Amino acid sequence: MLNIAVLVSGGGTNLQAIIDASERGEIPLGRLALVLSSSPKAYALERAAKHGIPSEVVNRKECADRAEFDSKLLAALEKHNIDIIVLAGFMCILSKDFTDKYPNRIINVHPSLIPSFCGDGFYGLKVHEAALEYGVKVTGATVHFVNEVCDGGQIIMQKAVDILEGDTPEILQKRVMEQAEWIILPKSLAMLCEKYSQEK
Ligand code: GAR
Repeated sequence: MLNIAVLVSGGGTNLQAIIDASERGEIPLGRLALVLSSSPKAYALERAAKHGIPSEVVNRKECADRAEFDSKLLAALEKHNIDIIVLAGFMCILSKDFTDKYPNRIINVHPSLIPSFCGDGFYGLKVHEAALEYGVKVTGATVHFVNEVCDGGQIIMQKAVDILEGDTPEILQKRVMEQAEWIILPKSLAMLCEKYSQEK
């Protein structure tokens, strides 16, 4: 069994998709060992509590700099013996020192088809606003490995989603979550657990 940590900052619907998949037996080689939030107000923490998953908060706002934030996150991950890290709506960029400690063991879900609408400044609703403003007809979501380049790690899985007449950023965000993110994130996680459990 691999110990999984899900890092969150907000609502946590992707966390919920992972919890649901896990409870359906779709991530048989992984255990949800920790939900780690950068904000004490994240609703994701309540989702964790409801399902009996341990959680911790490292409040980004109370850390003097990124180094302090990263070292507190690392301490929590080490304490819970974490093997695989999932960024699920985690709105903070991790340092190279951090990502080097877990090579090919951190994955992120991004709400566009990378390399479109990604990188610094593209997060949450802003991604969908940019897609609508550009006028693309197809968007989607990407799960990728995390390295020191923002949204720059190797792609694991992608799924396309149509943009429809009259879409607002909010409507599009919901469709991309339902038709892509909530499907490919748990699937990628299950795949990764299978890969690394053979090495454990
Ligand atoms: C999701 O759409 C996720 O892809 C996005 O934020 C939302 C979080 O929702 N992440 C990024 O934009 C990261 N660059 P959630 O908290 O309900 O899972």
